[in-house]
This record gives sequence, structure tokens and C-alpha cells, in this order.
Amino acid sequence: MAKLWGGRFSKNTDALVDDFNSSIRFDKRMYAQDISGSQAHAKMLGRQGIIKKEDADLIVKTLGEILEDIEAGKIEFLIEAEDIHMNIETILTQRIGDVGKKLHTGRSRNDQVALDIRMYLRDSAKEIRKMLSCVMGAVLEVAEKNTDTIMPGYTHMQKAQPVTLAHHFMAYFEMFKRDMQRLSDWEGRVNVMPLGSGALAGTTYPLDREFVARELGFNSVTRNSMDAVSDRDFCIELASCLSILMMHLSRFCEELILWSTNEFSFVEMDDSYSTGSSIMPQKKNPDVAELIRGKTGRVYGSLITLLTMMKSLPLAYNKDMQEDKEAIFDAVDTVMLCLPVFTEMIKTMKINKENMLEGAKGGFTNATDIADYLVRRGVPFRDSHEVVGKMVALAERLSKKLDEFTMEEFKSCSPLIEEDIYRAISMETCVEGRNLIGGPAKARTKAEIEEGYKFLAEVE
Ligand code: ARG
Repeated sequence: MAKLWGGRFSKNTDALVDDFNSSIRFDKRMYAQDISGSQAHAKMLGRQGIIKKEDADLIVKTLGEILEDIEAGKIEFLIEAEDIHMNIETILTQRIGDVGKKLHTGRSRNDQVALDIRMYLRDSAKEIRKMLSCVMGAVLEVAEKNTDTIMPGYTHMQKAQPVTLAHHFMAYFEMFKRDMQRLSDWEGRVNVMPLGSGALAGTTYPLDREFVARELGFNSVTRNSMDAVSDRDFCIELASCLSILMMHLSRFCEELILWSTNEFSFVEMDDSYSTGSSIMPQKKNPDVAELIRGKTGRVYGSLITLLTMMKSLPLAYNKDMQEDKEAIFDAVDTVMLCLPVFTEMIKTMKINKENMLEGAKGGFTNATDIADYLVRRGVPFRDSHEVVGKMVALAERLSKKLDEFTMEEFKSCSPLIEEDIYRAISMETCVEGRNLIGGPAKARTKAEIEEGYKFLAEVE
């Protein structure tokens, strides 16, 4: 097959090179963006009188037909045509001959590919935000039902202070909220139209770049032709947003895996979201959560691939940059695979409230509250910390929880302690007492959940 760029060559490329060079295998997924980009370009060429109006119309119409044929599975792409851009142009020219050859006037594959990826990723990020808002909706649902489900909060994986399951889940809601904001923020930066940059130095034709931008839903046009064809920071930035999102998801998954263990027994995955073992009949494994945790590594891998691929590349376009696609597409695909399954997993999971409460009662999680009790009776905090430290040591010797102390035992530690201590250090009081913005008290959490629903309602 003759190459679209074959003029100066006396030999065809070796089949090995065709295979090596070709990106059609992975860039064919940008066919719709490539076609709408070409339609906007052709329309503009016609309006500007750079090509004849009827030629532009014929190109736009034929590209529309090609789109339908691709979607109907009627088109087979060719490795020898290298990439999606030249495949579509080749088909166009096969269908309308010389008119098709006019499409590429004032354009290079370098600005064309920059346009296509920006459009493709812009669409993908919208999709991801939709999926993420479903995850967040599921988090709110679980939180809403568990504003008084008391559980231990941990630091260093040691029981620290009682919180509620709702408060714990709402921590992830905050993380996902920032992930969402990062994506919207990124969308603003990616939504800049690069066509008109040509190979690297723009073009001599009087293109109307702003028209093309409007046609394709871009907010503005790029301001430097060399930058526009040679940076892929938007791929790196998206991979970074997705890596952070996956990091959050994998922490969440890790906790659910831990909570599903026999030792914790805080949650139980639904049968439809767990798998068994081929040898051990009793096993029920949280595979879904584990696999999401595992796939996080793939997304980080894409980020590192992109950063390393771009490192030290001189301006402007270099073929190295063709490597951007597999990496960023894999990151996008992986995130899109994980989000819906995560949503359903947490929606169907069973919560063992009793075990959580029991867990909260162990590990002296109310020790800080006894210290605070003494502070309210005039003891400086550092001294009360010391007194309660001794109390914990005594409790360990007696194999008792702090709220199982008799009044005498309390008094032996501090004469300031009265009967009201029992109420003051109950799990409920510990949680309800933390009634400040950002705290776990029921009313506070409820207010945050409400804010959460408002946030989701505003996400388009
Ligand atoms: N398939 C190429 C890529 O993905 C398109 C741009 C090719 N440009 C070039 N001058 N070889 O980067």
C-alpha cells in the first residue's frame, strides 16, 4: 500500500517497521474524535474559502458515513495505514477521490493527534466523574444509615478513640470530593484547541481557529504552536489525578479487606461480591476489593511511563510521544473498571454493628475522655494524662476495661473522680462530645451528609 507521505521515498517500509510503527491497534478508539475534528476542520476550510464549499460539504458528509460504518463494524483498519488519522483519511479518499485529499490542507498529524487525545480524554474524564459520583452516592447511603454505628478509630493501627462508621466513610467522601474537583479543574486546562499549530510552526493558510474551537466545544485555542504539538502534560496530569483517586480507593479497599477478616468481623461482603477457594471449602475472599487495590499499581505505572517518556524530549513532536496513548488509555480503562464495581460492593456489604461497638470498647479508647474529665475538674492536661496512663496500667493488671472500674478503683487513681464518670466515658458520650465542625457527633455527621448530597446534586 502506498503511504500518504510516500512522495520522497523510493522503497516501501519493511513489514516489520509497519508493524512496529503502527499505532492503529490502540489509537483506533479515537475514531469518533478524529472524525468530528476533521469535520470541523473541513467546514472551516470551506468557510474560509481555502477549499471549495461543495468539497467541504462532501468531506463532512462522507466522514459522517464513515463514522456510521465504523460503528456498524463494517470497517477494517489497516496496519500499513499506521494510525487512526491516516486510516480514516485513506478511507475518505477511497470514497471521494481527489476531494478527500484536500482535507489535510493546513493541518498536520501532529496537531491532529493533539486534538484527538484532548477530546478523547475530555470525554473520558466526564464519564469518570459520573462514575465517581455514583461511588460517592453509595458512600453517603452507607453513612446515612450509620451515624450512630460506633466503631474504633485507629492510629498506628492501634485503637485510638471511638468514631462512627458514618464519620469514617465521610472521610473518604472528602477525599473523593477533592478527586472530583481535581478532575474538573483538569478539564478546564485540557479544553484548549490545538488545531492550527500544524507540524510545529503553524500554517500559512488563513485558518479560523476560533471557529473550530467553538464547533468542537473548546473554551479557547492554544497560544503557541510548538507547545501545542509537543506537550503531553495533560496526559500526565490526568494520570496523576487518576493515581490519587486510585490511592484513595485502594486505602478504602484495604480497610474493607481488613474489616472482613475473622479477627475484625466488622463487615461481610455480599456473596455476589466475594469468591471462594478451589481447595478450602470455608473460604470467602474479598477478591473485588483486593483487585482494586492491586490495579492501583497499574495506574501508578501509567503515570511513571508518561513522565519518563516525556522526560528530556526536545521540542517539538517526537515519535516517542505515540507511547502516550497506551499508558493513559490503560489508566482510564482501569479506573472505569474499578469505580462501578466498588459502588456495588459497598452498597451490598453487610455491616456488623455489634462487633464494631465491641471493638470500640476495647483498647481503652475512652482514656482521653477520662483525662478530659479531670481537666474539667481543674487538673492540668499533662497531669491528667499521667494519671490516666497509670489507670490504664492498672486496668491491664486487673484485666478490666476503664468503665468497668469500681468507684474505689477510680478514687484510688484520683479523688476528683465522681459517680458521673461512667456516663462521661461511655462510647456514646465520647462520640457525642466531639461536637465541633469536622467531628464525629451525630448531628455534625448528619449535616456533612446533607452537604454531601448537595455537592453531588451540583455535579453535572
Ligand atoms: N500516531 C502518531 C502519534 O500518536 C500521530 C502523529 C504522527 N506524527 C508524525 N509526524 N509521525 O503520535
